[in-house]
Formats: sequence, structure tokens, C-alpha cells
Amino acid sequence: MLEILKEIESTFRQSLDSIADEAALEAWRLANLGKNSPLMKAFSGLGQLSREERPAAGQMANQVKQALETAFNEKLGKLKAEALAKSIQEEKLDVTLPGRPFRHGRQHPATTNLRRILSILAEMGFQVYTARDVESDEYNFQLLNIPPYHPAREMQDTFYIDSKVEDGTYSTVLRTHTSPGQIRAMREFAAMNPENPPSIRAALPGMVYRFEQITTRSEMQFYQVEGLAVGENITFSDLKGTLLEFARRMFAREARFRFRADHFPFTEPSAEMDVECYVCGGKGCPVCKKSGWLEILGCGMVHPRVLQNGGYDPRRYSGFAFGMGTERQLMLRYKINDIRNFWGNDIRFLEQF
Ligand code: PHE
Repeated sequence: MLEILKEIESTFRQSLDSIADEAALEAWRLANLGKNSPLMKAFSGLGQLSREERPAAGQMANQVKQALETAFNEKLGKLKAEALAKSIQEEKLDVTLPGRPFRHGRQHPATTNLRRILSILAEMGFQVYTARDVESDEYNFQLLNIPPYHPAREMQDTFYIDSKVEDGTYSTVLRTHTSPGQIRAMREFAAMNPENPPSIRAALPGMVYRFEQITTRSEMQFYQVEGLAVGENITFSDLKGTLLEFARRMFAREARFRFRADHFPFTEPSAEMDVECYVCGGKGCPVCKKSGWLEILGCGMVHPRVLQNGGYDPRRYSGFAFGMGTERQLMLRYKINDIRNFWGNDIRFLEQF
């Protein structure tokens, strides 16, 4: 037994020296210290020795085991240190080299403009309310007082997402305007207290979609911002005062504005608001088509039926709403003559802002 142990001790050192990586070292450990190693077999052989032989052999076996373990740990430490030194050497990084410059992203001009509108409205007490891009026919049309087959549906060529149902309507559309958000906002606010719905002042921004031929003047998607105020004793003069103040902050303090009667199924009465052409100052130019005025938004008093659909009793509540497209404002301001630039992703166009 002592012979065997001596033999084990004398061979392990040599075999350990030739090991160059951690995988080989693990194999060595299994072979020399593992369950089936000669050393472990020697341990289990101790029981068969005589009483006299056993203590010396046991002591020797323990010494050999300890020596093996110490050598293993030293070797492991050495291999790890070598690997670290090697990786530091090979993956060396020269931090003094000049960096590669990278292009800065920036806000899309349409986003900048949208945020400007929202921040002006926020200063005036309108909280942002976002609704959804995919709408039901009901919200996009019917609840806004545009029944199936109503001629007003022709005003907005619609992307229908599913096919015609029996009564000639479709059930899912891409919203053609942000106005369905009026119903969603009213219903959400009314649900807070159905007996006494709270008043609302909300700005509803979002992309809208129309099934149109894309040309230099019309796109199939653009941003709108909707405004909605609902409460007791809200009148048309509140609408006018609010929009005039908004427009002065948005365009220019000294600019002139005018309201013209118009029609929308979901407001009554309805109007269009114009700003004096800020390209020619009202004298008449190609941008305003010689009229001196630019149309900026549609507005009106929320139709009683729309209030009703939103959960607000029209005998007690009234409100106003307005809606504006936002890219056109930029086209006029920066003399952009092709609306396709906005969503064309041409970096040369975007970099100018
Ligand atoms: N939804 C209308 C449009 O898309 C704009 C509008 C909104 C008009 C709110 C009146 C009130 O043209």
C-alpha cells in the first residue's frame, strides 16, 4: 500500500506540469482525485489492511491527498492568472485613438410642431389624451352623428380594415380624424361620476389616415390635434376666445384671424378659422392663392347628440371642439412644396430642421 501511494505521489507532479489549460486540468482532477482514481481506491483499500499497517498507511494517504489538492489549486490559480494576462495582452484597447464621430438623431419636424401645439394647449389648461389609431366604424362615424350612408362619409375616404357587413357599413377602420377620441374621452370622464360628469379640457393628438392618392399636396397619413372642452355654460365665445389666444401664441401676437361658417356633422354651429397669410402678410400670394388668408382649423360647438353619446346630458352640458392638421402649417411656414417629404424618410430633407 505504501508503495502504491509513493508511486501516485511521484507521478502526479510530472503529469501536472504538462497541463496547459483549465479543461485539461479538470480532466487531471477527475483522474487523480476523482472517485475512480488510484488514490481513492487506495483509501477504500485501507479497510483490508491489518491493524498495525493501517495508521501509517492512512496517514500517508491523507498526506498524498493533501499534496495533490494543494498542487491542483496552485495550478488552477496559475492557469487563471495566465489566461487573464493573455486576454489583457490580446484584447488591448488603445484609448488614445480618436473616436469615430456618429450622426446625431434629432426630432422630426412634424414631432417638433406637434409638441409645440400641445405645449401651448397645455399652458391653456388642456391635458393630453391619446386615443387609438385603429377605430370602430361606430366611434369614427356613427357616434359622431355620421350615420351609415351619410354623405359626410364621402368627405373622408376611409381605409377599411375588414369587409362590408350587412347594413352596408364596415366595422373597423383606420381613424380618418382624431374626433372619435372626443367620444372616448367623454365616456372615460363620465364614467368617473355618471351622475355628475366632470368638465373636460383635453387635447387629442394623433396620426390620422385617409385613402387618398398620394400627391405633392395630399398624403394618406398626417397628424391632427383635436381640442375638446365640455362643461356647464360653455359658449361659442369661449370657443372663439380660446382659439384666438391659441392662434396668437402659435402664429403671431399681431396676426389677424377670421372665422367662417362651415359644416361638420358632429358640431353645431360649425366654423373654419383662417389666419392672415403669414407669407405675404395678407396682400395675396401663390401660397394663399391670392386670397390673403390661410385655413388652419375646423371647429364648432359639440353637437347635442355627440354629448349624449359621450355620457353628458346636453340639457346641462355644452362644449366646443376643434381639429387641425399640423403638417400644412409647416409647409406654409418653411415653403415646403411637397408633402411627401414628411414621411419619405429622406435624411437630406430632415437634416434641414
Ligand atoms: N374632424 C374634423 C376634420 O377632420 C375637424 C373638426 C374637429 C371639426 C372638431 C370640428 C370639430 O376635418
